[in-house]
Amino acid sequence: MRALLTRIEQARGLDRVGDRVQHAVQATLRPQRVRDFLHGVWLGHPLHPALVQVPVGAWLSAAAVDLLPGQRRSATALVALGTVGAVPAAVSGLNDWAALAPDQRRVGLVHATANLVGLALYGGSLVARLNGRHNLGRALSYLGLSAASAGAYLGGHLAYKQGAQVNQSISELHRIGDGWHPLADLAALPQRKLITRSIDDVSVILYRHGDEVTVMLERCPHQSGPLGEGEVQQIDGHACVVCPWHGSAFRLNGGEVVHGPSGNDQQVLPTRVVDGILQTRLP
Ligand code: FES
Repeated sequence: MRALLTRIEQARGLDRVGDRVQHAVQATLRPQRVRDFLHGVWLGHPLHPALVQVPVGAWLSAAAVDLLPGQRRSATALVALGTVGAVPAAVSGLNDWAALAPDQRRVGLVHATANLVGLALYGGSLVARLNGRHNLGRALSYLGLSAASAGAYLGGHLAYKQGAQVNQSISELHRIGDGWHPLADLAALPQRKLITRSIDDVSVILYRHGDEVTVMLERCPHQSGPLGEGEVQQIDGHACVVCPWHGSAFRLNGGEVVHGPSGNDQQVLPTRVVDGILQTRLP
């Protein structure tokens, strides 16, 4: 399996199809607020993994109920719930997929294809069950479950091995030692300008507004872009830093994500000023 997954990650031949699908997804899922909704910006957490619980739960339950006598209506209802619930899960997944790195997109393409095959088989199963052909419906459901399970395996690889839509910056906290760390002379910090500093070799950005200073991890939670090279923009009345790589935006007064593709907030660190020196520590 490892060799197969590595081959998929490196299969540049998938890029021609992937590029076309990516353009189609980006052209279809507009405006930005629709994309933000599907990324899970409003939730402060990627939406796709939450939505996939509906088809996974319903389809697995249908597989179990199908083994029991006299449960045809329950099994049909579960297959219908999973099939309908798979649609928003697929749309949010495609929206996340369109902003992934090339190796992640290749695996994501195969993941999506396996799940679409699974969805089509469950759609056929539903039609067969509604027409009274329950044995055929059951067979199509088990085939659909096999395809969806292959898709889920690839989705796990995408998240846990390749880090797609996983917070890429939070592990930096584990490299910062306990206690307060001096960062800068407050009086020397310019107003409303991004400054980059390091604590224990972890890069952070500083943003001063009056006597308030925000200290935030520099690596973008989406794909580790350098937020210190980003722009400060006013969004909905809040100063936000915009990542130079794919445009995710985070509030500078709390780290909340306001525009995707990141579905995760950015981590800010507590601060204090002692004898004019700005200090920070782990949250
Ligand atoms: S790295 Fe993608 S938005 Fe920052």
